[in-house]
Amino acid sequence: MAPRKLAAGNWKMNGTQAALAEIDQLLAALPAPGCDVLICPPATLIHSMAARAKTAIAVGGQDCHAKPSGAHTGDIAAAQLKDAGASHVILGHSERRTDHHETDAQVQAKAQAAHAAGLIAVICIGETEAQRDAGQTLDLIASQLAGSVPEGATAQNTVIAYEPVWAIGTGRTPTNDQIAEVHALMRDRLAARFGDGADMALLYGGSVKPGNAAEIFAIPHVNGALVGGASLKAADFGPIVAAL
Ligand code: G3P
Repeated sequence: MAPRKLAAGNWKMNGTQAALAEIDQLLAALPAPGCDVLICPPATLIHSMAARAKTAIAVGGQDCHAKPSGAHTGDIAAAQLKDAGASHVILGHSERRTDHHETDAQVQAKAQAAHAAGLIAVICIGETEAQRDAGQTLDLIASQLAGSVPEGATAQNTVIAYEPVWAIGTGRTPTNDQIAEVHALMRDRLAARFGDGADMALLYGGSVKPGNAAEIFAIPHVNGALVGGASLKAADFGPIVAAL
């Protein structure tokens, strides 16, 4: 089965209720997309965005705790995201790996919690510039993939996003060959470990814009994008969705 295509937006720590007007504009502009569309706003906006987007746009969280409930001030459980209207959750984004020192093992535990709550885990991996310069990219990606993706991952409950840290918010992107090389490695490793589960969607993330989306989507094993800055405005994200 071919992987489903997914255009995903990560609003990060941006947006208040006023930003939901972008969802109305996106809904009006969406050209009956041939792919799934997902926006992951701050947790404060999940409920109202889900109500506004109905079923045309899926809504996701940006992190969840590995435990189902308890004394964890400021954290959010996967079941709470689901209860608020989320269908997905981004896990292991490099900003969380950096800011909160999240490890592969923690990301894997969070993904298990997401699956248990019925959420689709969007698991992020990617190398730093120093790691790429040192020729460590493929080994690192293989290791992050093995360590972050839990047993029980399937094409229905898991999406993998390759986001080179140095390409996030910088306007820089890897070459098409570099993206192709990493995505082929991910597909091979997933096939070896999960068999049919290898059909999970593989996204590229890092400075995806309306101007480069079509070229990136033409790369083998790229099944969509995880978009940061360009997902905040319907005028930018709409053309990216259309390119997929
Ligand atoms: O999760 C998406 C993100 O890290 C990419 O951000 O702004 O480079 O599209 P941006």
